Formats: sequence, C-alpha cells, structure tokens
Amino acid sequence: MCGIVAYLGQKRAEPILVEGLKRLEYRGYDSSGIAVIGPEKMRLVRSAGRISNLEELLTEENIIGTLGVAHTRWATHGKPSTENAHPHLDHTGRIAIVHNGIIENYTTLKQWLIEKGCSFSSETDSEVIANLISFFYHDRANLDLPEGRDEPAGHLTAATRLALRELAGTYGIAVICQDAPDVLITARRGSPIVLGVGDGEFVVASDVAAIIKHTSQAVYLGDNEMAVISRDGYQTSTIDNVPVASRIEQIEYLLEEIELAGFDHYMAKEIFEQPKTLKACLSGRLDTNEGRIQLGGIADISRELVRARRINIAACGTAWHAGLVGEYLFEELAGLPTDVDYASEFRYRNPIIEEGTIQIVVSQSGETIDTLAALREARQRGALSLGVVNSVGSTIARETDAGIYLHVGPEIGVASTKAFTGQVAVLTMLALYIARRRHMSQQRLSEYINALNRIPDQVDTILTQSDTIRQVAQEYSQRENWLFLGRGYQFPVALEGALKLKEISYIHAEGLPAAEMKHGPIALITPEMPVVFIATHCSQYEKVMGNMEEVKARGGRIIAVATEGDERINNYADHVFSIPDTLDELQPLLTVVPLQLLAYHAAVIRGHDVDKPRNLDKSVTVE
Ligand code: F6R
Repeated sequence: MCGIVAYLGQKRAEPILVEGLKRLEYRGYDSSGIAVIGPEKMRLVRSAGRISNLEELLTEENIIGTLGVAHTRWATHGKPSTENAHPHLDHTGRIAIVHNGIIENYTTLKQWLIEKGCSFSSETDSEVIANLISFFYHDRANLDLPEGRDEPAGHLTAATRLALRELAGTYGIAVICQDAPDVLITARRGSPIVLGVGDGEFVVASDVAAIIKHTSQAVYLGDNEMAVISRDGYQTSTIDNVPVASRIEQIEYLLEEIELAGFDHYMAKEIFEQPKTLKACLSGRLDTNEGRIQLGGIADISRELVRARRINIAACGTAWHAGLVGEYLFEELAGLPTDVDYASEFRYRNPIIEEGTIQIVVSQSGETIDTLAALREARQRGALSLGVVNSVGSTIARETDAGIYLHVGPEIGVASTKAFTGQVAVLTMLALYIARRRHMSQQRLSEYINALNRIPDQVDTILTQSDTIRQVAQEYSQRENWLFLGRGYQFPVALEGALKLKEISYIHAEGLPAAEMKHGPIALITPEMPVVFIATHCSQYEKVMGNMEEVKARGGRIIAVATEGDERINNYADHVFSIPDTLDELQPLLTVVPLQLLAYHAAVIRGHDVDKPRNLDKSVTVE
C-alpha cells in the first residue's frame, strides 16, 4: 500500500528518489511525486498515473538538492489525481510529508486545523499530517525543546512528535522542512519503514528494494518508533522520545534479484524461477544422509511444537490458500487438529485459544495488517506463535515467537507465485518435522525427503509446457466465467488457480471442492464454461473422474492437470497439462504451476499489465 522513499546525503536526490519509486511501484501505482529541498526553496512535482508520467514532467525541471521525499500511491482517501498525490505540503509550503497508511481521525483533525486557519488542497487523510506538524512547528509555545535544540531541526522534530501523538490509525512517514535542510525525519506505526545507512548518505523506504542499490546496511524501524537523520548520523527513539538502541542489519537481497532478467514481467520471472527458489527454500533443511528435517528458526519452540494440541493458521489471499494446504498436511501427517482462518476475520470473532495452541501466520510480505492483527490477537490470548514469512526483518517476522523464512527472494509481481510454493514447502517440512517426532517412521520420512528433493527438477519439466498452456489460454481467453475444481490437497490449489486468473486477467473464476459442484454450481455448466480439474493420481482420483463425467455430460469444456502417463484422462478432458508423479502430499507444489502459467498467459493475451493489476497492490497494510 503506497511506497515511500526519502534521501539525505551528498548526491542529487532527484534521480535516487525516482529510481527508488520505480523499485517500489508494485506497492501502488495510481499517482506519484517528489519534493526536494533546493538551495532556495522546496520543489514539488507530482503526477497522476504511472511513475513514467512523473519522469516525463521531471525532464522539464532542473531539481537540485540533496534532501527529498517521494511517494507512489495506492489510493485510499481521495481519487487518484495530481492534487491527491504525495508529497503533501503544509499550508505554508515549507514542510513536506509522504505517508503510507490511514489516519482514522483525519476528519476531526482537519476540522480543528481549518478552525485554526489552515487551508487544505487535497481530499486525502495524509495532508492533515503536514498541517498538524506545521501547526506545532509554528506554535513554538507548545514545543518541549531539549537543551540546545532551539533551531529549526529541533523544532521540526518536536513538532513531529506532538503531531504523531494526535494521530489515530497507521502510518509510515517521512518529513522534511525547508528551514531545516539537513534533517530528515521518519516514523512508523503499522506501516513498514526501513532506514538504509550508507557512506555519508541515508535512504529511507517502505522496503529494502529501494535501498539495496545504495547500501546493504539497514535499520528496521519498530512500531511507534522514529528516526531523526542528520548529515552526520541518526538517532532512533520512540515517538514519545524514549531512546531506542537501533540494530544495523545486513540486507540479504542482491540487486540482481529484483531485476527483470530478460523477462517481460516479474510474474513470469517468478514463475520460472521456482525450481531455483524451491531449491533455496529446501536447501540445508533436508538432510538426506541422516534422513532428518532441520528447521533452525523453530529450535527454541520445538518441544512445544511436538506437544502441541492444536494448530491455528491465519493468513490472507494466496497465503491463506497455502495455509489450507497446511491444514491437510498437519492433520494427515502430524495428526494435529488444525484450523485455518482468514486473518481479517480472526480478531472480530471470539477465537478460542486453548492451552497447547500454536498460532501460525503465513505472509509473503510480513506486513499484511490483517495477518499482523491476527498474530497480535492470538499472542494476547496466550498462543505461541510461528511465522512463515518471506520478507526478512518484516514486522510479522519480528513479532512472532519463532519463524521459518521462505528464502525464495523478493517477490515483486503483485500476483504471488513463488511465495506460494515456498509457503507450501515450508509447511510441508514443518508438518514432517512434527510428525517424525510424534509417530512417523524413519523410513516414511526418508521417502518424503527424497520426494521433496526431486520437486525443483519436476517443476522445471512442468515449465516446458508453457507454450502449450499459452495456446489453451488463447482458445479460452475471452470466456468470462471459469470453474476450478479439486479434491483433498487439490482443493486449495483450485482456489489458488481461480484467484490467479481473476486478479490478473479480470475473468470471473471460482474454485470449489470438486464434489461441491453438484450442490449448486453445476447449474452454471454449459459449453461456454471452461472447467479446470486438478485430477492427478491420488487417493481421490476415481471420485474426481466421476465429477468430470458429470461436467462432460453437460457439455462443459474440461482442462485437466493430470499425472504424466495418464491415458484415461483423455476420455474426459479437452486439454491436459501433465505433472510428474509424486506423493499425494507434495502434489500442490507441482499442480499450481500450470495454473499460474494459465493465468499469466490469459492476462497477457487479454492485454493487461500483469505486474500491476487493476486496483491491487503488493503489500496490504490497511484493513
Ligand atoms: C494474490 C496475492 C494476495 C496475497 C495476500 C497476502 O496473488 O498476492 O492474495 O497473498 O494479500 O499477502 P502476504 O502474503 O504478503 O501477507
């Protein structure tokens, strides 16, 4: 939800800010802007639409200055327009802010500020932050200035603190002021902020993608924390001014990992990367010699895990689908009762957390606000928590009692692909880890380990069918309604296949357990309706064949994902994508891949911007 970049250093800020915005464009792309403090005054340039529009405007400007803030927006309050684009200036034009999050009490604050004489020029909630800081900045009587800070930088810092205390809601912000050309202030509550610490320069951003070109050293700001950055260094504290000892961490990603590497879209790159990312995810965790699974991140809670009485999983979207696969895995392999919640619903009911409950939260970004809220609720109710997260250093990763990182590298495409297979791989390893300590024989575990080790190469062979899948996508790309059906482990994959298709190609698609079709949705089946069956060799194969008969009898067009060498499937299916054979429990790692490709090709054929789908953004940090 929105991307923030800010720079203070020795170089010209403008190109650094624009480059940073491009790296963060997947977080929001309906308008963008920059503000830079030049030798004489603040320069502000904003534009509706993509960052390329902003770049075009900037070619006509000559923006000099080494301190600036920038923003790419995903609209919440106020339509996407130049007036609503960030940065927002206070009514005197001296202070500029960029904001990610939602200010819940902005109407009250706005009214109050108007009564005090402030004027507003946008419909956003964010503009009140600029004016509130400005109010305190100009009303010096209120400022509680420490010794020696009676100068603009000190005033700005104190005014920002006062303003933040008044805000209800969430924010990640960066603040600059024309009177203080050597200070950059950033703060967060609920929305992520990372401070990149370079050699004589600092880059603040919503995530590390905008930082790694400049430095691999970062400080991840905690909730309710603030950093005041000057040209010589920075200080971190709580918003209430209690000093916080910050820890510099090494950013794990390399710049190459966030480049397109010759692909047209990040989504395609990330689908095709899966053999590599799955290898990285499994690497060091499967000990084939000893027949063991090693998960370093859970060492501290391994006893509790093995003795657990129940597992709850909370997540959103694709991560929720991975959680559903987890439910089958924990119950089947580890014999552990498991529930899966939409994170957004969890805290608005009365979730029962019994003794011995382990709360697992699954999140690619580690910043999804609903998942974070579910985690906090579960912990407050006494659950031990475990994060299955991709983004290192993210809020969820830091707030869980233990965690297992996916290690699949940064995911930039808005539609999640390699994170899903990473999440399922981690949940599979975790289920096996617990199962072995509870009852699973060594021989059985070794069979799973060997089969898991083969998965990356098996994904590779599925990817070679991309052209065939594209032809099928071409044939059906104008059909506006699709069904995706699967049973058992393939039910969550059916949901995921449907979600991928709808979010990037804007085709209406529904995923269902195959047998549920008879209880209503079968009424929709006509020769116009493509029905995707995940019909691999597994314990439910015969039953799925029965469901296919039912569709065929009603003239539905069938696209099947089947096991290599299955001849019988040709009696029912109009098109078949094959996957290599593997154990039932591991099949979701393979069957999802053709569905990712199907959605990708359909979206490209329909002419959509696959990496920036309509109305979506990558990291949902508002409720
Ligand atoms: C779909 C997709 C979303 C995310 C969801 C959770 O392709 O990407 O449904 O899975 O917003 O995001 P994370 O995993 O970052 O918590």
